[in-house]
Amino acid sequence: MSTFHTICQTDEIPEDEARMFVIDNVMVGVFHVNGEYFALDNRCPHAGASLAGGIIENDTIRCRIHHWRFCVREGTYLDEDKPRFNARTFAVRVVGAELQVEI
Ligand code: FES
Repeated sequence: MSTFHTICQTDEIPEDEARMFVIDNVMVGVFHVNGEYFALDNRCPHAGASLAGGIIENDTIRCRIHHWRFCVREGTYLDEDKPRFNARTFAVRVVGAELQVEI
């Protein structure tokens, strides 16, 4: 059963930055882009590098290791039409000043 977990206060992730959290033993990258928050499995689908450590370009995250790109909104692998490389996404909500992720 999935549950929303409070991970931090919204102001702890500045605009155009990301942070990694471990929630129920899952590493989750949380991104603050254009005033919205998004959560992806933090392991790059290519070889497992940290997506939260990647480079944010609008609503795209570029992995620092081999530069694969993913949509932060939907986790879509953007460089080719290969859905098996899409990143898993998680629902995010803001409750008051708290940021919550559903795992
Ligand atoms: S580990 Fe991310 S692109 Fe290779």
